[in-house]
Amino acid sequence: MKVVVLTGAGISAESGIPTFRGKDGLWNKYDPTQLATPEAFNKDPKLVWEWYDWRRQLIAKAQPNEGHRILAQMENSIKDFWLITQNVDGLHQRAGSKKVIELHGNIWKVRCLKCREEYFEYKAPLEEIPPKCKYCGGLLRPGVVWFGESLPTDALEKAFKLSEEADIFLVVGTSAQVYPAAELPFIAKRSGAKLIEVNPEETPVTPYCDVSLRESASTGLKKAWEEIRKYTA
Ligand code: APR
Repeated sequence: MKVVVLTGAGISAESGIPTFRGKDGLWNKYDPTQLATPEAFNKDPKLVWEWYDWRRQLIAKAQPNEGHRILAQMENSIKDFWLITQNVDGLHQRAGSKKVIELHGNIWKVRCLKCREEYFEYKAPLEEIPPKCKYCGGLLRPGVVWFGESLPTDALEKAFKLSEEADIFLVVGTSAQVYPAAELPFIAKRSGAKLIEVNPEETPVTPYCDVSLRESASTGLKKAWEEIRKYTA
């Protein structure tokens, strides 16, 4: 029994990290084209890094919540389990999840535009903005995927394959508006998976779900776990 999960910003909402499109979402306060595109970064790397530095500090202070912990428990109890996330906050890993595929990169990763080195930089706040490469002194960029950029090929290919093979596909806390990640639940459904959703609001995935729980991640995942246990006992 293969269980595959796709998470979005909603699973980190209960850790105090704002989502992007909800009522108090980040894209209501900031313009994504000014902060989360290669053009925005090339135009003003300092402004873009100030925004990421603010998000990094917020995330550094945040703790994984019950929803993250339940998914880590599921990984330990279900042999054939994978977690695909759109989130860059690293909270799944801090909750103990190991089999994590990060489709949009990781906010703690930095990549040098000069020597191409990529490494983890956990300083929050950053000592210098924009930060410079520890190897060559070149300009660093956040190790995340921006609008208009392609996703890491290996991560995306693995995510497509897992979605095709899933017997149960669980979608948690995503508005399912950003592709190619949003395609994954539909691939799973077309391939015969049982589709379960946890989201306080309806999404484009809702009509295709076998079960759609109008709940927050922590509450909804407890119920989804019970539902899944029936099939993985
Ligand atoms: N529990 C579960 N879901 C929640 C909660 C909660 N406590 N609070 C909000 N949500 C839901 C919202 O209803 C919404 O459907 O989480 C979803 C968040 O949607 P978005 O803000 O669009 O986040 P996401 O779907 O992850 O965005 C995808 O867009 O901006 C880019 O790269 C960014 O990875 C991100 C991608």
